[in-house]
Amino acid sequence: MNIILLGPPGAGKGTQAARLQAQRGMVQLSTGDMLRQAVANGTPVGLQAKAVMEAGELVSDAIVSALIGEHLDAAGDRGAIFDGFPRTRAQAEALDLLLAERGHRLDHVIELNVDEDALVRRIVKRFTCANCGAPYHDEFKRPQVEGVCDVCGSTEFKRRPDDNEQTVRTRMAEYRAKTAPILPYYEERGLVRRVDGMAPVDDVAAAIDAILGA
Ligand code: AP5
Ligand code: MG
Repeated sequence: MNIILLGPPGAGKGTQAARLQAQRGMVQLSTGDMLRQAVANGTPVGLQAKAVMEAGELVSDAIVSALIGEHLDAAGDRGAIFDGFPRTRAQAEALDLLLAERGHRLDHVIELNVDEDALVRRIVKRFTCANCGAPYHDEFKRPQVEGVCDVCGSTEFKRRPDDNEQTVRTRMAEYRAKTAPILPYYEERGLVRRVDGMAPVDDVAAAIDAILGA
């Protein structure tokens, strides 16, 4: 099964994709994570993407589509969770091609419906484990033992440079202008399912499980 998680910054795409990967053996393909890795490694892609990401704007369609193509083969037949991709109509068309070339197809496009002002609060208080990437939040999800990752025991945590209010507002505007308009492309094909992304994490997870089936 191949699914897209669609929603504005902070909607919970990464949180739900990581859970699906852990519980169902599907593969999380996050273009945001791939780009942050490229920036950290100082690759040519990373050098191009860094300033664009820090401004909250979209990296070029060609770069992100190529990244997805590179990672799609590793997913094999386990099924992919596209997290933060596609974000434009051109990326949606590129994804159709990449899947068709491999004999795969899309099963569901799950839109996480959320309230944008609440999302700003989610994002600016978000942090992750520097070692394993497990997601946390200053208010909603602190580690069980203060300062120690629940998953891997690391004591190092980090925050994203684009998680400040001004950049978040730009990211939201980019979502409204360029990403939300791709929904009709999938609606025409009857692929869109909607989930209340403002519900608690476990309730969102249950709603997604109900869509995917056993
Ligand atoms: P990307 O990394 O994809 O960021 P984003 O879309 O802005 O989304 P986030 O990762 O911020 O949010 P999320 O939906 O994953 O939420 P999360 O689960 O973390 O992209 C970053 C940048 O890279 C872009 O701005 C762009 O420059 C570039 N880029 C990436 N892909 C691109 C593409 N395809 N094309 C062009 N450019 C691209 O949750 C947020 C917080 O809320 C967490 O703390 C979490 O614990 C908490 N939380 C989650 N769910 C709930 C809940 N139900 N209730 C309460 N708290 C919750
Ligand atoms: Mg994310």
